[in-house]
Amino acid sequence: MLQVTKDLQLAINELNGGGVIGLPTETVYGLAGNALDAATVSKIFAVKNRPFFDPLIVHVATMEQVRSCVTYIPQALEKLMNAFWPGPLTVLLPKADAIPDLVTSGLPDVAIRMPAHPMALSLLRQLSFPLAAPSANPFGYVSPTTAQHVVDQLGDQLNVVLDGGACEVGIESTIVGWDKENSKVCIYRLGGISVEQIEELLKESVEVKTSSSRPSAPGMLDQHYSPGKPLFLVENQNQIPSNAGVYGVLSFNGQLKGPMVYELSNKGDLIEAASRLFAGLRYLDQQPISAMYLQLLPELGLGRAINDRIRRAVIKSNVH
Ligand code: TXA
Ligand code: MG
Repeated sequence: MLQVTKDLQLAINELNGGGVIGLPTETVYGLAGNALDAATVSKIFAVKNRPFFDPLIVHVATMEQVRSCVTYIPQALEKLMNAFWPGPLTVLLPKADAIPDLVTSGLPDVAIRMPAHPMALSLLRQLSFPLAAPSANPFGYVSPTTAQHVVDQLGDQLNVVLDGGACEVGIESTIVGWDKENSKVCIYRLGGISVEQIEELLKESVEVKTSSSRPSAPGMLDQHYSPGKPLFLVENQNQIPSNAGVYGVLSFNGQLKGPMVYELSNKGDLIEAASRLFAGLRYLDQQPISAMYLQLLPELGLGRAINDRIRRAVIKSNVH
């Protein structure tokens, strides 16, 4: 029987028994289980219908926990961890034996993140193990940003979904690693911490390698985050066909109009837009409309991560 709850003890019992739960974080909801237990980890892959080659992020509450999961922390990455944790930053670090190979899909590095959501942190502090957690959506679909989104899609497979409200950030964490060859920090997935924030802290430029031609690289399959209805990218209102019928637009700053409008941010605020993007895609996907149209946002700050998600969401609609 599914319980949607704020009661941490229900989550603790479920997790201690080897179960998986819906977990609120500040980015998106996760599908969480004991990261040190291979049987639980394989359950996560099964519930999400996720291919085993796509590795999972391990969530921790303390630096001590990080040290039990990894063998080494490059200085530049430690600097980022100190500055942005708890928060929407995931760091790739050489994995310790305690982490099952299944978690990293056999890769030498493990992805680690200390989430900022108070409920997630409080839960993690009361557990004797870190939590492996991918976003709690069926593989390839839009990530969930409310407990209800998790219930809608995975509710029949779960006993506990912790309800921590709507996610503040709304898009996934930024994934960074250390490029040994170039002695540089590298961004593998754009996300809740912007490129500018990272470069400002490090006082140097970083590489952004979010290409999808490398399936072992983070979260970067070309087609991802897709709604079910056709989704089209336009440059302006005129590009929406006059015979489009009853359609929906995901608008930013009031720039698109249509029979059904979901505003990402009336005041042109990229942070607000990030927090509303996935909820907007889900909302329109459920309306009686034939298609959805949207524009790219300004390519700066969180706009880059938002545009990355938009491009990936759109691809499915244009490949038949
Ligand atoms: O904000 C987030 O990061 C959310 C919340 C729940 O923490 N989690 C999330 O997980 O977005 P997921 O599984 O949907 O995306 C994580 C991405 C995966 O696509 C995977 O390819 C990459 O991180 N990743 C995980 N472990 C990795 C590793 N060891 N090496 C390279 N990439 C890794
Ligand atoms: Mg995901």
